[in-house]
Amino acid sequence: MEFQKLIEARRSVRKYSPEGKVSRDDILTIIKAAQEAPSWKNSQTGRYYCILSEDMVNRFREECLPEMNRTKSQNAALIVTTFVRDRAGFQKDGTPDNELGNGWGCYDLGLQNENLILKAEELGYATLIMGIRDAGSIRRLLDIPETEIVVAVIAVGKAGEEPARPKRREIEEITKFF
Ligand SMILES: Cc1cc2nc3c(=O)[nH]c(=O)nc-3n(C[C@H](O)[C@H](O)[C@H](O)COP(=O)(O)O)c2cc1C
Repeated sequence: MEFQKLIEARRSVRKYSPEGKVSRDDILTIIKAAQEAPSWKNSQTGRYYCILSEDMVNRFREECLPEMNRTKSQNAALIVTTFVRDRAGFQKDGTPDNELGNGWGCYDLGLQNENLILKAEELGYATLIMGIRDAGSIRRLLDIPETEIVVAVIAVGKAGEEPARPKRREIEEITKFF
C-alpha cells in the first residue's frame, strides 16, 4: 500500500473478529519491520513477547489488563513491548549521555512500534497500543527480567469494527518555523 494511504488507513481498533487469527510468520514479519527502525547507537534495545495461544491470551487479559482494555483486546494476539534499561542514551560505564536517560530507550521503542503497527496494517491486521496495563503482573507472568522496562502492550488481529478517524490538531498549532 502507498505510504500516505497506509498511515491514513491505520486506526486504533478496539473490537477484534474471532475469525482470522494472526500467524506466527506474520508476527515475525511485523517484528522484522519494527527492527528496521533507527535506534540510539544502533543499540536495538526493544524486546517483544508474543502471546498467540488463546489460553495464554485470555490469562494475560484477565491478570494483566484492567477492565477497560480487557474487552477491547478479545480475539487479538498480544505483543508486550519492553526495552533494555540503561543502554540507549547511556555510555558503556552507565553514565547517561544527557538528561533524558531511559527516555531514549522509550523513544527508540516508540519508533520500532510505529513500524510494527504500520507493517501490521499493510498485512491486513488492525492494532491497538495499550498503555493502561499492569506492568508488575506482566513481568511476573512472562518472566521479564528487571533489566527490561515494560512499556506498551499491542493487540494485533482482524478488525471487528471500522472506527472513524479521531480529529488531529491543526498543523499550525503544533509547528513553529524559524
Ligand atoms: C502510548 C499510547 C498508549 C495508548 N493506550 C491506550 C489504551 O490503554 N487503551 C486504548 O483504548 N487506547 C490506547 N491508545 C490509543 C489512542 O487512544 C489512539 O491512538 C488515539 O486516540 C488516536 O486514534 P488512532 O490511533 O485511531 O489514530 C494508546 C495510544 C498510544 C500511542
